[in-house]
Amino acid sequence: MNTPTDTDTLGKTHQESMTENALDRVLVLEMVRVTEAAAVAASHLIGRGDEKAADAAAVEAMRRAFDTLYMDGTVVIGEGERDEAPMLYIGEKVGGAPGKGPKIDIALDPLEGTTITAKAGPNALAVLAAAEEGCLLNAPDTYMDKLAIGPGYPEGVIDLAKTATENVQSVAAAKGVEPGDIIVCVLDRPRHADLIAELRALGCGVVLIGDGDVAGVIATTDEDTNIDMYMGQGGAPEGVLAAAALRCVGGQFNGRLVFRNDDEKARARKWGIEDLDRIYKLEDLASGDCIFAATGVTDGSLLSGVKRRRTLTGEKVMTTDSVVMRASSGTVRWIKGEHKV
Ligand code: FBP
Repeated sequence: MNTPTDTDTLGKTHQESMTENALDRVLVLEMVRVTEAAAVAASHLIGRGDEKAADAAAVEAMRRAFDTLYMDGTVVIGEGERDEAPMLYIGEKVGGAPGKGPKIDIALDPLEGTTITAKAGPNALAVLAAAEEGCLLNAPDTYMDKLAIGPGYPEGVIDLAKTATENVQSVAAAKGVEPGDIIVCVLDRPRHADLIAELRALGCGVVLIGDGDVAGVIATTDEDTNIDMYMGQGGAPEGVLAAAALRCVGGQFNGRLVFRNDDEKARARKWGIEDLDRIYKLEDLASGDCIFAATGVTDGSLLSGVKRRRTLTGEKVMTTDSVVMRASSGTVRWIKGEHKV
């Protein structure tokens, strides 16, 4: 047991570690239990053609796992509003220490890629972001125009107010390559036909993904993917989750809410959003210290999916592949789990 004079592996005293902030370091690792639980539950429904059942399994498992954590959590981005979602609705209290534990805001998507899971496609994840109270944008469930790059570029190299062509040219110049060398990830949707044509006219490589733009945005931070930029419209809640990840590993993100009707505008105003045309940068979406945790449901560019196997002693286990990152330290931990069945 540590005493107040002991130092841990990072040279911090026990007392320093315990008083760091609401996102206690123990809680950082514990968040992985929550995404693991959701991923394992959803994995039973991979390829079964039932998006709703896969999502429901992940939601229920994530909800239960939260209760094992010592925190006073509030869902700020979740499965929908209270009247639409039985569990993990926006405003729902989660965590096993209401009124006592650290106050934490949670953005979550128990199953990012419901269709992917139903069809056994790539890149389905169980994800969450956690931050101190008030640090995550309460994004309405609308679309968001997204533009993202990985780390290592000068600040301001991307700007959503400019055209796709201008942004590609700017990133190419900063990278020291031709615009045609830039690889852009885009959700494969009819609404992106003009964007895709514009990118191809520049000679860019366009990586089309069927679903899962949280993984798409994070792919820009991983050199192995060769993806330089992420562009296009996807869910606003997923935008906040991706921004939280980029806050931890570096990168730049611009997001602007897209409204299809007056009802969506009214929803945004209800969440306190006045300037409907605002371009949000990373810190506008996830500020202060924050944690991002994800577990793969199906195999993907970021993580492997849940697998079943037998150990050498003949025990049946399920294996999970997770990542947890923290903004304040920049630490990224890759965690392999073996769970007895
Ligand atoms: P779900 O898990 O809710 O199915 O979301 C998957 C997803 O591809 C997100 O990653 C993305 O932000 C959004 O759907 C795009 O929405 P749409 O399918 O309407 O284009």
